[in-house]
Amino acid sequence: MRCSEKATPEAVRDRGRQPGGRDACGPPPKRRSAVWWYLTSRLQRRLFFAFGAVILVTGLVASVVTGVLSERGGWRAQRVRLERFAGARFSEVWRDPEGRARLAAAVADELRMRVELRDSSGETLLLRAPAGVAATRCPRPTLRARVAAPGGAVLGEARFCNVDPSWGGGRTALLVLAVLAVIWRMAGGIARRMARPLDDLVEVVRDIGEGRLDRRARLPTHGRSELGLLARVVNDMAARIEAQVAAQRELLAAVSHELRSPLARVRFLLETARDDGADVGARSAAISEVEDELVGIDALVGDLLASSRMDFQAMQRVRLDATEVASRALSKAGVDLAALDAPDEALPIVGDATLLTTALVNLIGNAQRHGGGVRALRVRQVGELVRFEVEDPGGGIPDDELPRIFEPFYRGAGAGRRGGAGLGLALVRRIAGAHGGDVWAANLPGGACVGFSVACEAQSAGVASAQR
Ligand SMILES: Nc1ncnc2c1ncn2[C@@H]1O[C@H](COP(=O)(O)OP(=O)(O)OP(=O)(O)O)[C@@H](O)[C@H]1O
Ligand SMILES: [Mg+2]
Repeated sequence: MRCSEKATPEAVRDRGRQPGGRDACGPPPKRRSAVWWYLTSRLQRRLFFAFGAVILVTGLVASVVTGVLSERGGWRAQRVRLERFAGARFSEVWRDPEGRARLAAAVADELRMRVELRDSSGETLLLRAPAGVAATRCPRPTLRARVAAPGGAVLGEARFCNVDPSWGGGRTALLVLAVLAVIWRMAGGIARRMARPLDDLVEVVRDIGEGRLDRRARLPTHGRSELGLLARVVNDMAARIEAQVAAQRELLAAVSHELRSPLARVRFLLETARDDGADVGARSAAISEVEDELVGIDALVGDLLASSRMDFQAMQRVRLDATEVASRALSKAGVDLAALDAPDEALPIVGDATLLTTALVNLIGNAQRHGGGVRALRVRQVGELVRFEVEDPGGGIPDDELPRIFEPFYRGAGAGRRGGAGLGLALVRRIAGAHGGDVWAANLPGGACVGFSVACEAQSAGVASAQR
């Protein structure tokens, strides 16, 4: 794959699953063996082997520490002391066969051990065992006491063997290994439990990336854990993308529909104007109607462009004076500046000048088209907001329409051919929202008042950072 080529999701996925798979667009990665790739490619395996390594190291450290401690005063030192004690006791009675036999029998019964006494040449002198146990030799003694005369001459040896089966070194090691294996197996289960939600999430995100926007992640049992939060965030993201894509599709369909009727009318009017039989008056009427339709189409495209400017976060926020924005909008709409009702001092706001002017021009346009003209464009600071309001002397907005006029593509029953696509106020609402404000509409005793607010300069910084 060349650097200019795009990696398809399948290609990326396949590369991720193969040992040594790499992106040709990046620097070549270090070559790793297939075993290394197998051990590290999945979180579950990595956790499993990490647990195994920790258990192994813990076992090694524990056995070393136990060994060191037993050398220094643990059971090894204890055994040496026991052997010395037994050697001393037997040396006292060694030359007395009866006393020696009594002592051996007492040790065998009291300690439940088989006892073998050997002379200095290694010949067995005596065998004793606890009641019910056969007295046999003791080739691999648990304790071995050297019996010596007071002068130091070796008299013989006393050997003691456990009667009850004891765990030899090999068996103990096997038992420890078995315990470690069980712990490791349990660690594997834990690793699987920890990694499975992540695998599910990977599947869900991949499906969403491939266009299945209705896919949602199952929330893990511990919904408040990091994985639960991640699943929630992914679900929220998918829901937002799904809603946005649906809204875009709806908008596209509605806009196509809205453009078709004026275009069909333009075509009809042009044919009328081109008609050889049409008189000059009919032709100029057709041409001016074409102009009206083109103005409508231009306004619709303008609204869409303004809307997409917000969709793509292309807003250019600068410091503005609200009064200046309002007078610019009046001039743009061709309305006398006498309609401006604003305080003398500047009202600083931070916002996108083009979008705010578009919003005001839409309100002014509505007052002209639906309300019989602009009575006043009022600019006021109220608390932490700057409010823009356009008042008109028209018949007002029917009460049942008031709650709906800010919806996209909503046109009032009285709008007739005076209205456009019904996007104007929806755009005003979006622009106000993007500037930390809101919209409203109300009927006055003689006319209507429609307006929007934006956050003052001090508040705008917070709005901007919250939306980023
Ligand atoms: N000042 C007003 N007086 C009376 N009705 C109004 C006024 N402003 C808006 N409306 C009503 O609200 C409706 C929605 O307004 P909006 O600006 O969204 O759409 P439009 O003006 O019909 O079309 P567009 O603005 O897309 O060209 C209008 O169709 C109209 O019925
Ligand atoms: Mg409008």
